Amino acid sequence: MPSPLSATRTGPRPADGDRVAIHGDLLDFTAEPAWGETDSAAVRFRPDHWLLVEGGRIVAAQAEPPGEGWTRHDHAGRLILPGFIDTHVHSPQIDVIASYGSELLDWLATHTFPAETRHADVDHAEKAAAYFIDALVAHGTTSAVVFPTVHAHSADALFAAAESRGMRVIAGKVLMDRNAPVDLSDDVATAEREMEALIAKWHGRARLAYAVTVRFAPTSSREQLALAGRVCRADPSLYMQTHVAENRAEVRWVHELFPEARSYLDVYAAVGLLHAKSVFAHGIWLDDTDRAALAAAGAQIAHSPSSNLFLGSGLFGWRGAEAAGVHVSLASDVGGGTSLSMLRNMADAYKIQALAGERLTAWKALHAATRGAALALGLGDEIGSLEPACIADVCVWDEAVGPVATRRASVARTLHERVFAWMTLADERNLVEAFVAGRSLYRRDTSLRSE
Ligand code: GUN
Ligand code: ZN
Repeated sequence: MPSPLSATRTGPRPADGDRVAIHGDLLDFTAEPAWGETDSAAVRFRPDHWLLVEGGRIVAAQAEPPGEGWTRHDHAGRLILPGFIDTHVHSPQIDVIASYGSELLDWLATHTFPAETRHADVDHAEKAAAYFIDALVAHGTTSAVVFPTVHAHSADALFAAAESRGMRVIAGKVLMDRNAPVDLSDDVATAEREMEALIAKWHGRARLAYAVTVRFAPTSSREQLALAGRVCRADPSLYMQTHVAENRAEVRWVHELFPEARSYLDVYAAVGLLHAKSVFAHGIWLDDTDRAALAAAGAQIAHSPSSNLFLGSGLFGWRGAEAAGVHVSLASDVGGGTSLSMLRNMADAYKIQALAGERLTAWKALHAATRGAALALGLGDEIGSLEPACIADVCVWDEAVGPVATRRASVARTLHERVFAWMTLADERNLVEAFVAGRSLYRRDTSLRSE
């Protein structure tokens, strides 16, 4: 299978002092946009500017072209944004994306677990990890929080692929010691040993961090959940990722398995898995007490709109979560989700809010996939904005591809109208170039603009 980066002319890794200048319409955020506000002071739009990058970091943005000594990438008229951050995605599930026919629990058993079982083969896991990381970049996603499989080598392969591309990736081997196929199950002792080795090898190396990765409460024994909590408590710099309250049958199952718990979230909270570095995918079927607990802990919900629609899981109450003070970031949840494109996920998020009687602005959606996600992960100084000192993870986008989007863009009157139409109509075909730490990792070969 050809690499998703086949259109790439990958440049050399930037050395200290390497100077790159990227020209276009710079768009990022300096604060959190308010709900429903289309004219927002949090938006920083700097058309016809040069973003200056030195040694892989942003150093300035200016209207004047730079002098001698800068390698120029002239994208006049194109949008330039921080690379997107996907806060919940499964690397082995590219092979089951768009699988017909069932809700979560049946989908896991029928499609997902068999695909993950194939990652027992080291060669398969390594090739799949490299393919996945390249696919993220080719969709405009430059940072991600990722589930590989239960196999320790699948986490190794993912970290290695991210490291060689200079990417910010947070991941960890999946914990599963019950209610899963034998080939996908570990046990408490193995899990402890493998986590310890992976943390020692990868946590804090290059741009990588380890996440204690509980698949979800039904597939971990009480002993394994307790182990996961102990590991988090021993090192507060570790992330934690899991699923919570995605699907009604799943929630009922958790109540049967943990009758003593007040709620699904409480199963995690009781063992120390609810903290500021926790990333909970979905969180559709939570109540006010859960939302208050998430907010008090500083944890985040990785809202996964295309997955929620595709698996028929439910309509996430974004506004209620925000009103309760919960950080909400945006995620593809591929392969439950049907696209790695964060733009496609934003368009789906808008439609979910519309069904719930709310309206999601382009600012709110874009913020959740850039600065908002970065802050919720505690990485606001590194990713998610075009602020000097941040690492230059930057993507260049065509505002319109094809005649209909081009026509729509030509009649837009305000910045929000323009950007909202882009967010709704665009996908990975609009991506022109992607930089990771100042290095061009993806460049589309042909112009798809329709004049
Ligand atoms: N819950 C437990 N595992 C999964 C998974 O792989 N995908 C989704 N969407 N939900 C899950
Ligand atoms: Zn998931």
